[in-house]
Amino acid sequence: MDKMVITGGKPLKGEVKVSGAKNASLPIMAASLLTRGWNTFYNIPDLADIKTISLLLTSLGVKVERGNMVRVNAENISSVEAAYDLVRTMRASILVLGPLVARMGEARVSLPGGCAIGARPVNLHIRALQEMGAEVELKEGYIEAKARRLRGANIYFDISTVTGTENIMMAAALADGTTIIKNAAREPEVVNLAEVLNRMGARVWGAGTDVIRIDGVSELRPVEASVIPDRIEAGTFMLAAGITGGDITVLDCDPSHQDALVSKLQEAGIGVKIYERAVRVIGSDSIKSVDVKTAPYPGFPTDLQAQIMSLMTLGSGLSVITETVFENRFMHVSELLRMGADIVVRGASAVVRGVEKLKGAPVMATDLRASASLVLAGLAAEGKTVISRIYHLDRGYERLDEKFRSLGADIERVKDKK
Ligand code: UD1
Repeated sequence: MDKMVITGGKPLKGEVKVSGAKNASLPIMAASLLTRGWNTFYNIPDLADIKTISLLLTSLGVKVERGNMVRVNAENISSVEAAYDLVRTMRASILVLGPLVARMGEARVSLPGGCAIGARPVNLHIRALQEMGAEVELKEGYIEAKARRLRGANIYFDISTVTGTENIMMAAALADGTTIIKNAAREPEVVNLAEVLNRMGARVWGAGTDVIRIDGVSELRPVEASVIPDRIEAGTFMLAAGITGGDITVLDCDPSHQDALVSKLQEAGIGVKIYERAVRVIGSDSIKSVDVKTAPYPGFPTDLQAQIMSLMTLGSGLSVITETVFENRFMHVSELLRMGADIVVRGASAVVRGVEKLKGAPVMATDLRASASLVLAGLAAEGKTVISRIYHLDRGYERLDEKFRSLGADIERVKDKK
């Protein structure tokens, strides 16, 4: 297993390009299941999660070719089963459920089970499919769903769910009649999927608002489409400029997706300049402590909560960071403590008292975004930080070490000798 070795303390400077969004690529690749023939997708990042969805699609009989672009052909679907081993490594595998039921009339998808950042159930996906006329049974750890043809329905999600909204949008695209999703997730990735579905010939309105209307059609055609830039990767680089007191211009991003983070950085006294497709972040000598509360988009993203906590460990006072999306998403706290941070967790909030310095230490990554927070802390810390279990990082960040090196970081990936 690889480790990341970082010698921190250098202000990072320069320009860095953001990759395509993992969380847009996954549903868009799953949407291929609704079409017959070759789809071509641009800007799909080279990540472990993209390998997993490719393997999953291949296991269903779909052809997947990966090069500069990703090509997916679901002309022939030979299986409707998403096996436990794949779903276990990536919960977003649930995204094949809606498309499979819509196209094939049935699906057998393993229940994702427990997860490091909380229970993360899929009850809302299941209930919405039932409301669309699917018969759903839970058997031997699998969701078994059947429907000769799904029918449009009024769906109300009592919690805003990103993959739930995406699953039902895809299912409804081929359903009979109109589906209205209320309290739909408004994330940019949902909008990107809706655009791709519409290009396929679907009739989706309102994506990006909390009411989405889908008029079902009987067939969808393959497309060429591009995925949006990864706003979480962009945010991680923006925070890297802040925590190292550097000056980073993040290129190829969509600044309109970063409002919540930009506002927090400015409140913390960090300079931000917005361009059309780029954001420049200029660190300051003193970081003001600010409070942060995560919320569904356009609120502060839970996927940047761990990273902004790293920034706040060096704040000038007290910061309260409240997680409202996932319970138990504070595993990075105990690792940050090992680097000299002062953090106390009280229920859904972490109280972070700024310290003057972080100190390098051996730490362990526990999930994707927690790993990114440890990289940021390591880049700012005095001395050497060794992060183990970085396979979590590979799930969501493309060539992160290389990109940080290009900004002047002393960061290296080494093979574990064991
Ligand atoms: C997606 C993102 C993930 C991000 C999260 C929140 C992808 C592939 N992943 O995950 O990176 O952290 O949104 O922005 O896009 N819930 C239920 N029942 C359900 C579904 C969800 O109770 O059936 C709850 C969850 O436990 C959680 C909340 O709803 O508390 C939001 O989760 P959701 O938006 O579904 O997260 P994901 O789509 O899994």
